[in-house]
Amino acid sequence: MRGRDPDVAGVGLDRDDLPPFESGRFDPRTFFTHPDRPFELEIGSGKGTFLLAEASANPEVNYFGIEHAGEFWRYAADRLRRHGLANVKVLWGDAVEFIRHRVPDGIVRTIHLYFSDPWPKSRHHKRRVLQDRSLAEFHRVLVPGGELRLVTDHAELWAWYEDHAARHASQWDRLEFSRPAHASEGELVGTNFERKFREEGRSFHAMTLRRRR
Ligand SMILES: C[S@@+](CC[C@H](N)C(=O)[O-])C[C@H]1O[C@@H](n2cnc3c(N)ncnc32)[C@H](O)[C@@H]1O
Repeated sequence: MRGRDPDVAGVGLDRDDLPPFESGRFDPRTFFTHPDRPFELEIGSGKGTFLLAEASANPEVNYFGIEHAGEFWRYAADRLRRHGLANVKVLWGDAVEFIRHRVPDGIVRTIHLYFSDPWPKSRHHKRRVLQDRSLAEFHRVLVPGGELRLVTDHAELWAWYEDHAARHASQWDRLEFSRPAHASEGELVGTNFERKFREEGRSFHAMTLRRRR
């Protein structure tokens, strides 16, 4: 980070902003000025490009990014703060742990998971965000009919997603992925990684899993 220290005030959240861990799950919608509005999560927000575009395009929706790399979290929170958006927050932490231990049932409209780290070595597969257990947690926190949206460039991670979707097909409907309206021509979601990989000529895979009622 060059030039000046990032300022995360008003957008960036860290552990100290959360109720004590021992108090269990709480309603993260209360961080927003309008907690009654639809609530969406992004796992692994990186530099916040997707959140910036989404939150600007949909001011009536609340967006909650979770990023565990401190440098990216600071960058994203500072960037979003400078845009003066009231409907976006970014938490510094592990999204899987946060969802499991802190998020109550049935409050999330959409979970966005884009270009998640593929962890290609077999012994690292357990580090992938999507696991049987995390998928069950995503199902729990989504509203009935809520969506998990997945995009990757990585063929093996895509196969992993397909296996999980097939194994849990009784709980999810698999749908075509629809691009958000703000995505630029030829883009699926318009994240930093998508743009970088597109320049390298990579191709992409995408699906939406909709929680069955
Ligand atoms: C490959 S980058 C993609 C960033 C962004 N989604 C994009 O498409 O440009 C993956 C990001 O997810 C973050 N990440 C990975 N696992 C995470 C987890 N369990 N909780 C929160 N962030 C996570 C990483 O720190 C990294 O910033």
